[in-house]
Amino acid sequence: MRSPKDFFKPLAVGAPAPLREIPVRPSRMIHFFPASNEKMRSKLPDLAPKVDVLLANLEDGVPATDKDAARAGLVEVANTVDFGDTQFWTRVNSLDSPWGLDDLTAAVLDCGEALDVVMVPKVEGPEDIHYVDRLLAQLEAKAGRSKPVLVHAILETARGVANVEEICLASPRMQGLSLGPADLAANRRMKTTRVGGGHPDYVVRADAVPDDPDGLRVTSQQDLWHYTIARMVDACVTAGILPYYGPFGDIADGVACEDQFRNAYLLGCVGAWSLHPSQIDIAKRVFSPRPADVAHALRVIEAMGDGTGAIMLDGKMEDDASCKQCQVVVALAEELAARDPELAASYGW
Ligand code: GLV
Ligand code: MG
Repeated sequence: MRSPKDFFKPLAVGAPAPLREIPVRPSRMIHFFPASNEKMRSKLPDLAPKVDVLLANLEDGVPATDKDAARAGLVEVANTVDFGDTQFWTRVNSLDSPWGLDDLTAAVLDCGEALDVVMVPKVEGPEDIHYVDRLLAQLEAKAGRSKPVLVHAILETARGVANVEEICLASPRMQGLSLGPADLAANRRMKTTRVGGGHPDYVVRADAVPDDPDGLRVTSQQDLWHYTIARMVDACVTAGILPYYGPFGDIADGVACEDQFRNAYLLGCVGAWSLHPSQIDIAKRVFSPRPADVAHALRVIEAMGDGTGAIMLDGKMEDDASCKQCQVVVALAEELAARDPELAASYGW
């Protein structure tokens, strides 16, 4: 038993009070950099104003021999880079790895107040979040942090997907979830060999025509990630936290990356990971409402007056529900435009 009132009590004496609402800040792209790489670190002051989130990656992609250097790189960046309005996150190693504990400890004890969010990979159930929650509270109390570090979980095991609602609701620290299609594919024993995106063999095929059984039958490639993203979005919205698409590994295929990101955007995700500078602009384009969509949404809202009833506009029925969808688009556009003057200008604001 636990009183609901206790949910918002600090989990350690001296730790900051948990937040009641997740701060919703633009996060169209979570830009990954390998924290062990000095050359990459030197580019961060120039990169910071161009992205919504900068993430120091300590986990997969960083060789075992560089794990200590990556952790030291995280600390150096946290203490030297001016992030301005850009959020600063880190992805720590998994909780069962030899490095996870030292990563979490350094993220809180040695990074001052710079760090906004810790991304925890391979989260399988609420017990993982409870562990991190208490540990972070103890570390925050020790460090004298004034605001709590938030937690973002990667959904990348079948058990994690099965427990997604419980994960989202496990702590007031939960900020959001990302889909981790590469690890999830491996864990599910899917037969793909790539990092996110579709697969040419995952198709539906038109029926054969009886008169021409050997004739061409059109196929259409399907989205391998539709089910998981939709589940993730519902779980996140239920908990009042934010869903993100994760990585798209085929850096050279910007078109397919844009399609995958846009499917996630349309289904309700607020952003995706960028693994290469070329994906920053793709994410910015996809996760910012198009000027034409914003103009249309504003027209519907205006025509709907107090937002109730039904009207005809350009031959289409608009009602309370379509008006609410338009309000979602306009609210997102306003939030992003407040931080992105170029985008604001494209809306004519
Ligand atoms: C990301 O971490 C993934 O496994 O896709
Ligand atoms: Mg992974």
